[in-house]
Amino acid sequence: MDKAGIIFSGMRPTGRLHIGHLSVLQNWVRLQEEYRCFFGIVNWHALTTSFDEVREIPENVKLMLLDWLSAGLDPQKSALFIQSQVKEHAELHLLFSMITPLSWLERVPTYKDQIVQLGKQGKDITTYGFLGYPLLMAADILVYLADTVPVGEDQLPHIEFCRELARRFNHLYQTDVFPEPQARLAKISMLPGTDGRKMSKSYGNDIALSADPKEIQERVRSMITDPARIRKTDPGHPDVCVVYKYQSIYNEDELPSIRGFCEKGQIGCTDCKKTVWEKLEQVLAPVWERRKFYEARPEVLTDILMNGAETARKTAAKTLEAVRECMGTGGA
Ligand code: TRP
Repeated sequence: MDKAGIIFSGMRPTGRLHIGHLSVLQNWVRLQEEYRCFFGIVNWHALTTSFDEVREIPENVKLMLLDWLSAGLDPQKSALFIQSQVKEHAELHLLFSMITPLSWLERVPTYKDQIVQLGKQGKDITTYGFLGYPLLMAADILVYLADTVPVGEDQLPHIEFCRELARRFNHLYQTDVFPEPQARLAKISMLPGTDGRKMSKSYGNDIALSADPKEIQERVRSMITDPARIRKTDPGHPDVCVVYKYQSIYNEDELPSIRGFCEKGQIGCTDCKKTVWEKLEQVLAPVWERRKFYEARPEVLTDILMNGAETARKTAAKTLEAVRECMGTGGA
């Protein structure tokens, strides 16, 4: 079948994913039907900010692969691989660095922001590698000649950077080697954490994608509801309630009636949580099943990453041949 185009996307292996990431992954899962897909666990990117805390990276890479597979990414359809196993990313990054004006990197909005943010935590990331982060990301994408990049809105400046770089390369060497990739934003539902803040492992308010049914039930039970509601018959305020927010995402059909029952004090928080849990269970049942399958087969995981890297390398090698030719580093 002819594919609609080529996709690259990646995630930094920063630890287990949570159920908020599921909508991102489900979007990737849909895209694998239409596009030629490359999905990279970008461990070099992890080093740009965590070069001094590398101990957990290898384990996090494995956790990420399991999370991806349990969400439904299919190694028969997509190349799933570790960035550092495809050295072409690094060569392209190096070659691109020769043509990238420093000012382009310095004006990427996340650059100064992150230096300030992490500076507040006592961390100095004013390194060459961190400055070059968008360049590495552009290499990740362009090494596969990807034309479509599913990302979150926060990554848009990086995609714009990638497009400018592709244009500059093509112009400098009078070629059309590189496409100008487009970001593809998906409708992502913003799930709050169990305490109502942004869901994040570091806040301890997340529901891990790898959590088992019992654990998820406990996490739902611990969700914060309307603090003004003490008795079941007290009128509730759904708009301040985390459980209601979950209802709005996982139980849209019953939402108006749940709102009515809550506001009139006709449904208790425990019962309301129970319906959220049941809906979550429906969504997560296939995820649990796939995880069980892969967890029992560690050798399959190794194969998936090996094959993924090999597929990725084949495409990347062709791109590099063309790039070396353009930049006078090809041939014998
Ligand atoms: N920068 C992305 C993030 O932090 C991860 C990433 C690295 C990426 N390389 C990429 C995403 C290439 C899309 C394409 O989320």
